[in-house]
Amino acid sequence: MYLKSSLILLFVATMMTVNSLSCKKEEDATPQQPGPGTDGNGSGTLNLPATLYDYVNTRNNMPPWLLDFMRANPQLDNTPTGNPITNEGATLGRVLFYDKALSVNNTIACASCHHQANAFSDIVAQSKGFDGKVTRRNSMPVVNTRFFKDKTMFWDFRAADIETQTLMPILDHIEMGMPDLATLENKLKGITYYPALFKAAFGTTDVTSDKIGKALSQFLRSIVSFNSKYDKGVQNNFANFTSAELEGLHTMQHDFCTECHSDFSTSAFGQKSSFLIVDNTGVNTGLGSNNGLEENYTDKGYGEITHQPQDQGTFKIPSLRNVALTAPYMHDGRFATLEQVLEHYASGIKANPALGTQMRVGGIPLSATQKSNIIAFLKTLTDEELVKDVKYSDPFKK
Ligand code: HEC
Ligand code: HEC
Repeated sequence: MYLKSSLILLFVATMMTVNSLSCKKEEDATPQQPGPGTDGNGSGTLNLPATLYDYVNTRNNMPPWLLDFMRANPQLDNTPTGNPITNEGATLGRVLFYDKALSVNNTIACASCHHQANAFSDIVAQSKGFDGKVTRRNSMPVVNTRFFKDKTMFWDFRAADIETQTLMPILDHIEMGMPDLATLENKLKGITYYPALFKAAFGTTDVTSDKIGKALSQFLRSIVSFNSKYDKGVQNNFANFTSAELEGLHTMQHDFCTECHSDFSTSAFGQKSSFLIVDNTGVNTGLGSNNGLEENYTDKGYGEITHQPQDQGTFKIPSLRNVALTAPYMHDGRFATLEQVLEHYASGIKANPALGTQMRVGGIPLSATQKSNIIAFLKTLTDEELVKDVKYSDPFKK
């Protein structure tokens, strides 16, 4: 009898311990228990500052000459009236961007393919998704995405705007693999820190996919990068430049690189180039551009969207800002180094119906010195602050 009741007691006590353990586990919720990490990014214990970082005014970090230009041309900023940046909204966006819980098996965050150290791009030609399959194209650096007046996102412009784009990787069957938006909403609702973050950002604890897309977009639009040697150079007449760097800039302007890689209005020879992403309408055939990588493109880029012959093999023209950090290069990551990119422009340009008018079949004549000068110049476009800026960093401490 004595033995029996003590066994029962022991049983009850054990059950209580098991119960309290499992409750604790639920409180800690999924993202703190991510699946096998792939790259060191992502979830752990959430660690946000007591006073929120300033995301609202990051645009004001632009150098004065560029800020004036932007103020005079407000259409260059794609921030919609319905989703202005708030510090609370961008803070939520930062958490979402680094949270592996957004993938179906807790293995991949946006940041797994968009690393801060690489100006928010990836170091491989094709990035690994949630179950090990790789993306079709090279990951893009998500910096200054706010300054693209056409608003459309991806190499082929298939997303209408940033708000639409941000939900697409989550549902992508290679990238993050969530079956549908309802599953995503329900999953995030169950994670302890989200209701409060949504309330701060949008006034209620409701977790909706619309708000997830908006918060991610606010965070992305807050990521601006204008703290480079080049930006300082424009302001001091390039007194801080070596002669190789300055020669490189002049060669790029002379050989029309800047016509495609900077907005037309600021890129005329001798003027200040923004080196922001541009829509190429009016310069070449359509929105994108073709730099002669192939005679026949297997990946038709924008041509897959429009089905027009003049758009076959045209792609969004990448910004050259931080290009020294974003290798490998091109839509398929075919070039590992800037030297290989320059060799393409000097000797590898192939004829095809969509070739940009600035391109010369066979190659743009560039001497070895000119090529190395251009590379020296491209390195002045690196923003060393961006890669260490804590407000864009992983908020989960491991
Ligand atoms: C598995 C890797 C991977 C993950 C995860 C991923 N991306 Fe990407 N991202 C890419 C690739 C690859 C592209 C280019 C795809 C294309 O153009 O077809 C891209 C393109 C983009 C672009 C377009 C940029 C431009 O200039 O047009 C944005 C914005 C973006 N990603 C944001 C995000 C956000 C937000 C998340 C998380 C919700 C995310 N990505 C998750 C690989 C990834
Ligand atoms: C006709 C427009 C055009 C001109 C002129 C042009 N480019 Fe490009 N550039 C592009 C396009 C489009 C891409 C992306 C092509 C792709 O991925 O298929 C690109 C890609 C690049 C890249 C790789 C960027 C990345 O992140 O992957 C670099 C670097 C580059 N160009 C430098 C230059 C230099 C230097 C010149 C002048 C010698 C130049 N470009 C002239 C349109 C142009």
